[in-house]
Amino acid sequence: MKFKNKKILLIIGGGIAAYKALDLIRLLKKHNNEVKSILTKSGREFVTPLSITTLTKNKTFEDVFDKDTDAEIDHISLSRWADIIIVLPTTANFMTKLSLGKAEDLATTVILASNKDILLVPAMNVRMWIHKATQKNVKTLLDYGYLFLGPEKGEMACGEYGEGKMSSPKKIFSYLENYFNKRNLIKKRRIKALVTAGPTREYLDPVRYISNESSGKQGYEIAQALSRLGIKTTLITGPSNLIFKKEIKTKNIVTANEMFEEVKKSLPVEIAVCAAAVSDFKPLKISKNKLRKEDLATNSIRLGKNIDIVEYLGKNNRYRPKLVVGFAAETENLNKNAVAKLREKNCDLIIANDVSKKDSGFNSDYNRVSIFDGSGKIQVIKKNKKSFIANKIAEIILKKLLVNDRSFN
Ligand code: C5P
Repeated sequence: MKFKNKKILLIIGGGIAAYKALDLIRLLKKHNNEVKSILTKSGREFVTPLSITTLTKNKTFEDVFDKDTDAEIDHISLSRWADIIIVLPTTANFMTKLSLGKAEDLATTVILASNKDILLVPAMNVRMWIHKATQKNVKTLLDYGYLFLGPEKGEMACGEYGEGKMSSPKKIFSYLENYFNKRNLIKKRRIKALVTAGPTREYLDPVRYISNESSGKQGYEIAQALSRLGIKTTLITGPSNLIFKKEIKTKNIVTANEMFEEVKKSLPVEIAVCAAAVSDFKPLKISKNKLRKEDLATNSIRLGKNIDIVEYLGKNNRYRPKLVVGFAAETENLNKNAVAKLREKNCDLIIANDVSKKDSGFNSDYNRVSIFDGSGKIQVIKKNKKSFIANKIAEIILKKLLVNDRSFN
C-alpha cells in the first residue's frame, strides 16, 4: 500500500548523488506527502535551494546561522514536525560527524536533537566505504539506532565498480512504504510488549544478597528496538547502571517476586521477552538485622525456589502472550539446553547465548546468539553489539507475530 500524508525531512548532503534527492522529492510529492529539506553547505555545491524549493514547495533550510530563520527554534521544530528524517546522500564525512555527535550546523544539530528515526542512505567511493574508519562508524551509528539503506554494488560516478552506490529513489520509496506500513499495522493492532531485564537480588539480610553478573543491557536494547517499531513497551528491570530513556515505560524492581508482580500487572500483552537473569533461588529466611558471623556458623543458607516468570507466561491459560520469548545463557551444550528450555517453558522463541566467553554475554556490550523456535535453530548471529542483535530479534518477533497479516512483508 502506498503511503501518503507523511512528513519527510530530507537532509541533502554533499555528494554527486545529491541530484537524486530531486527525484525522491518528486516521488514523495506525487503520493501526497509533505517534504521539508535541509541543504548542507557541501550539498549546495551539487544542487541549488531553488530547485529543491520548486519541488518541495517549502523553504529550503540551510545553515544554523541563517539570518532569515530563527535557527534556535528550527532544529527542534523541524525534528518535531518530521515523521522520519532521511540523509541523502550520506557521505563518509557526514557519518564521522554523526559518530562523534557533532552539532556544528543545522543538519547535524537537528539530528542530534531528534528522537525520530533517521535513515542514512550512504553513497561514496568503494574504498571510502570499506575503509575501517567508515565501517567503525557504521557500527557506532547502528548502535545509536540509525537506520541504513545501502549502499549497493554498482558502477559509481568516479568510474569505479563496487559497493558504494546510493540506493535509487524508487528503492528508498519502497523502503519507506514498508517502514510506514509496518508502523501503521502496529498502531492499528495496538501491539504491547513487556521485557524483563537485568539481575534480581535475593536478600539474606539488609546488606547481603544473592545475585548475578547481568547488566540488563540486552533486555534494555530489545525494549528500545521494540519501542522504536512503535510497540508500546514496558521494561521491568532489576538493579542496573544503565540510563534508561524516558520514552520507555520502566519499572524498577529488586527481587524476583517483585519482578513477577510487575509482570502480572503489565498483562495482557502480545509480546513478552524475558531477558532477565532471574535468581532461581532465594534465601528462605531474610534476617531483619545484619547477620553476624556466628549466625552463619553452620555454613549453610537454606534456599527456596523462585517462580519461573517465563514459564508462568508460557503456560498461562488466561493471558498467554501471543509470543513468549525466553533466553538461555549457557556455558555448555548450548543447542540441546536451549531446545529443552523452549519445550519446558512453552516458549515460542529462545535466544541462546554462550556465556563462557569473556568478550561477550554477561556484562559486555557484545553478544553472540543462536535463535530457536519450535522447529529448531532459525538464526545464528555472530559476535555483534547487543543493540544490533536486539534489532534482529525485534524483527524476528514482529515477523512471527504478523505472519498471517497480508499487509505485512
Ligand atoms: O532455566 P533458566 O534460568 O536458564 O532459563 C532462563 C530463562 O528463564 C530466561 O528467559 C529468564 O528470563 C527466565 N527465567 C524467569 N524466571 C525465573 C528464572 C528464569 O523468567 N525465575
